[in-house]
Amino acid sequence: MSTNLAEIIRILKEADGKPVSGEELGERLGVSRAMVWKYISSLKEGGYEIESSPKTGYILKVVPDMLYPEEIKDGLNTTLIGNNIFYFAELESTNSFAKEMAKEAEEGTVVIAESQKKGRGRLGRNWQSPKGGVNLSVILKPNIPLDHAARLTLMTGLAAANTIRSLGLDARIKWPNDVLIKDKKVCGILTEVDAEMEQVDYIIIGIGINANVNVDDFPPGIRENATSLQKELGTEVNRVEFVQKLLYEIEQQYIKFKTQEFSAILSEWINLSDTIGKNVTIMTPSKMVEGKAIGITDTGAISVRTKDGKRVNLIAGRCVY
Ligand code: BTN
Repeated sequence: MSTNLAEIIRILKEADGKPVSGEELGERLGVSRAMVWKYISSLKEGGYEIESSPKTGYILKVVPDMLYPEEIKDGLNTTLIGNNIFYFAELESTNSFAKEMAKEAEEGTVVIAESQKKGRGRLGRNWQSPKGGVNLSVILKPNIPLDHAARLTLMTGLAAANTIRSLGLDARIKWPNDVLIKDKKVCGILTEVDAEMEQVDYIIIGIGINANVNVDDFPPGIRENATSLQKELGTEVNRVEFVQKLLYEIEQQYIKFKTQEFSAILSEWINLSDTIGKNVTIMTPSKMVEGKAIGITDTGAISVRTKDGKRVNLIAGRCVY
C-alpha cells in the first residue's frame, strides 16, 4: 500500500466515524480532490468499506479482514519483529520468499501471505494454506552456533501456543513444534537455517496457523487430525490482532532467549507440553525409537526412555503417539 493510501486510512481512523471531506484529505496529502477520489476507489478495491457523501465527505465503515502491513503495524507493540513486513495476497511459500531475501534483510523482517500455492511443511510435507489462515515467516539472525538452532523452534512453538491460549483455548505443544488443541493440529512451524557449524547466518521461522479456515475442506488424511481457531472458538478470530499478539510473543521469547539461560524458556515449554510423559515413537531417517518421552534436553532434543531402560536423545524426527 502506498504511503498516501496508508495516510488516508490513518486520517479516517483518527476521525473515528466522523466524515472527512475530500478537500481536507487533498490538502493534508498535498494532492487534488480527483486524486483523493482515486485513492478512495483503490482502498475500496482492497476491501475497505468507505462511505462517501458529496456533501460531508468520507467515513471509514469497515476495515477488511486482510493482513495488510499497515493494519498490523497499527497497534503492534514490538521493537524488532515486524519492523519490516512484506505482504502478498498469494505466494508460493513465505519461507521460500524469506530465504531468497534473508541475507540482505534486517533481522525481524516478516513475510506474510494470505494464501500459499506451495506451502511447505516439515519432512517434505505440504502445508494447507488457504485464505483465512495465518501464513508467515520471520527472519532471525541470532549469534549462536548451529546446534542451538533447535532451541528457536521450541521458542516459537511456545510463542504460538501462548498466543492461542490468550484466546481462551487450551493449546499444547507436541514435540518438536506442532501446536494442538484437543489433540488436533492447529499450528505448524518450519524452521530453516543457513549456517556454518560455529555460527548461524540466518534462521527462517515459518509459522502456519489454521485461523479462519474450514478444515473439512482439507484433503482426507489431513482433515481428521486438524482443527482451526474458528472451529474451536465457534467464531472467526480477528487475524490482525492475532498476528500482532503472535509477533509480540515471539519478540518477548526472543528477548528471553538472548538474555537468559535456555532453561527459562524450556520450563515454560514443558508446562505446555503435550508430549512429555507419553509413550512415543520417534522416526528419523536412520532409526526408529520407541519409549516414554521423559524430557527435553538443553539443545531441544527429546529424551526417550526405551523399554530396555536406555535414555536416547533425538534432536529431530517425526513424533507419533
Ligand atoms: C509443519 O507442521 O510441518 C510445518 C508447517 C509450516 C507452515 C508454514 S506456513 C508459513 C511458512 N511458509 C511455508 O511454506 N511453510 C511455513
